[in-house]
Amino acid sequence: MSNSKKYDTAVVVAVQSTNNAKSRLSSGLSPFHRRNLVIAMLEDLLIAIREVHDGPLVIVTESSEYSEIGTRFGADIVFDDGKGFKEAAETAILHIANNNLSNSILILPGDLPQAQSFDLNTILEILSSAQSDIVALSASEDGGTTALGVKPYSMFSPQFGPDSANKHRDEAKRNAMKIIELSLESFKIDVDTIDDLIRIENTVGRQTKKALSKIAFEKTISARRSFRGILGPPLEKSDVEELVSLAMTAPAPHHTTPWRFVAIDSNNRLDLAENMGLKWKEDLQKDGTTTDIIQKALENSKQRIMTAPTLLLGCLVKDGLNTYADTARAEAEWGLAQHSFGAALENLLLAAHSRNYGAYWISAPLYAQETVRNSLNLDPDWQPQAFVAIGHKTPDYKPFNRPPPDITNNLIWR
Ligand SMILES: Cc1cc2nc3c(=O)[nH]c(=O)nc-3n(C[C@H](O)[C@H](O)[C@H](O)COP(=O)(O)O)c2cc1C
Repeated sequence: MSNSKKYDTAVVVAVQSTNNAKSRLSSGLSPFHRRNLVIAMLEDLLIAIREVHDGPLVIVTESSEYSEIGTRFGADIVFDDGKGFKEAAETAILHIANNNLSNSILILPGDLPQAQSFDLNTILEILSSAQSDIVALSASEDGGTTALGVKPYSMFSPQFGPDSANKHRDEAKRNAMKIIELSLESFKIDVDTIDDLIRIENTVGRQTKKALSKIAFEKTISARRSFRGILGPPLEKSDVEELVSLAMTAPAPHHTTPWRFVAIDSNNRLDLAENMGLKWKEDLQKDGTTTDIIQKALENSKQRIMTAPTLLLGCLVKDGLNTYADTARAEAEWGLAQHSFGAALENLLLAAHSRNYGAYWISAPLYAQETVRNSLNLDPDWQPQAFVAIGHKTPDYKPFNRPPPDITNNLIWR
């Protein structure tokens, strides 16, 4: 900000590099999300500031990663050595004094994503009033400082860190300045921990909400489980249609839509289950499986088909796929369709999970394609791949133990 006009107030926002900022959030958040969240929280604060303040705005930081956001909000970026909030505030004050930018300063931490512009305005009005020798202090619930307004600022030494609100009160006394204690709803909490974030998630600004919804989205992915303990009633028809629509947003080769779904009525299940059972029995007998084991397997399979509140069959068709004379490419092409089927079913399972249904994949139709096709009177081009059973979660059902992913043997870098 290099013009000669002197403003009432320069607003300072102190923010550490995304690597160092909010280190207490690191236990619950991946580095990606922590970075994203720090920037989003800063952006929400800058939006609120710019709604009520068109004067000097200083972002003080040790990192160059805020240049773009600084430019967007017309802020000076002032670099400090990243030693701490107190030193950062001193560096910003020096910049404001050297450039004669304003009579007063308002220092804010970058982690106030719920800050409302009308609360900011309250502080700015105090600082631009006729009063002088004043310190406007907003203390957080934990005794920290969420806003510090000082006029004039030349003799005042900002403190910050633990119990900084009391230190600022002492500093005001030492300088014979009047302390104005602010009680601003949107300045009560600064975000240090995941719990802080959860407490304020409904009142944060839009950018922080978006960052939080990205975190929630990934949590949905990793929390999905094959949930086999399911109860009726069946899903509403519209629900099934929506799930299938979401399945059909999966990627597919050559812009095809090779998936077909059948919602299987309970009246058609007995025939289907028994015919599939006969086919499976034949296969198991060929394997030399004992009668006892065969009987148990068939009963279990029949029960799953009969009791699934909603039973969807997923099929594939070859429409739009390339044809090749050689087997290798023909098989690869079919492989593409099957990959796409997996993607479609994962979409469906995720959507079912996010709607709090229990759902799981049953691969038996792939082993009895003709039987399934005939039992359900399907078009000969439809190639049955899998069932998905969906229903309401049985409260006491616990999915199989699934250890957290360990990428050690699953990801290599070349
Ligand atoms: C291609 C495929 C076939 C599957 N077939 C069956 C099945 O026939 N019966 C079943 O209960 N689960 C089946 N599953 C579910 C897996 O057992 C389950 O995804 C895996 O154990 C991991 O558990 P999770 O889904 O809870 O993460 C299948 C999953 C896939 C991807």
